[in-house]
Amino acid sequence: MFPQVRMRRNRRTDWSRRLVSENQLSVNDLIWPVFIQEGTNQKTEIPSMPGVQRLTIDHLLEAAREAAELKIPALALFPATDPAKKTEGGEEAYNSENLVCRAVRALKAENLNLGILCDVALDPYTSHGQDGLVKEGYVVNDETLDVLCRQSVVQAEAGCDIIAPSDMMDGRVGVIREALDEAGFQNVQIMAYAAKYASAFYGPFRDAVGSGANLGTGDKRTYQMNPANSEEAMREVGLDISEGADMVMVKPGMPYLDIVRRVKAEFEVPTFAYQVSGEYAMISAAAQNGWLDREHCMLESLLCFKRAGADGILTYFAKEVAQLMQSN
Ligand code: PBG
Repeated sequence: MFPQVRMRRNRRTDWSRRLVSENQLSVNDLIWPVFIQEGTNQKTEIPSMPGVQRLTIDHLLEAAREAAELKIPALALFPATDPAKKTEGGEEAYNSENLVCRAVRALKAENLNLGILCDVALDPYTSHGQDGLVKEGYVVNDETLDVLCRQSVVQAEAGCDIIAPSDMMDGRVGVIREALDEAGFQNVQIMAYAAKYASAFYGPFRDAVGSGANLGTGDKRTYQMNPANSEEAMREVGLDISEGADMVMVKPGMPYLDIVRRVKAEFEVPTFAYQVSGEYAMISAAAQNGWLDREHCMLESLLCFKRAGADGILTYFAKEVAQLMQSN
């Protein structure tokens, strides 16, 4: 008899497909990145990210309440800094009254069952748009570390639950852990952007926070990773874990699922993937044109992160997918 094995038998009915399914997306896997801006009662569209808006703090609180109700575990905050506050040294990063710190305090006052993650890097605050301090055209490592520590501590003081260094300086996780502990924040978690690539898929994000114009024709290739490399990602992740990272992240997401897979297999630590702005933009734009089905592509892309081994996903689709899963 031919064929001897009929793989299609298990796929024939809906109930059977559900029964044999190996992976599942849950609302517990989601971290929702949210862009914030100064002012009150304003939502500003981001043209390169259809459906995503920058929110003033009052609207952020509303979004947070919705997120908590949907059982989304955590929000990640990204500030669009007033250009007048951007400097060479990015001093606004460690101003305890900066937009992010005020937003975190306001969120924490709501007493929601919701984690707050803050990015640590200087790009929202520097006039040159780089993640670190620049000397003679080079992003300097060790001088930047001090500033990142100060930024981490003011964010923790504001009530941030998860500090997420996205700067890719060497040694930052270790010194940030030490600075947090010294300031009494032993329980603040660190999610390291451990394998973060110098990717063109961050373009819409840089529009959203307004760092793209500052960066101009500059790039981040002297500190973010070369997309050609995967052995190097293992070294990066290993270092961040040894320096005290509680969780690690791979970024971008969809083009780097092989890295997610390797990291999870090799280190067995909570591993996250960031489905970045450009990935969101691709799906959204194609859906707007009627070329792709938005809902199906969203669900499929997120499920694929789970299959690759991710414990969770930072995704601009978080609220939409949580609503969809709840209504099903
Ligand atoms: C800042 C930062 C970036 C992103 C997250 N944190 C941009 C960059 O490194 O230039 C990108 C996220 C996205 O594209 O959605 N260091």
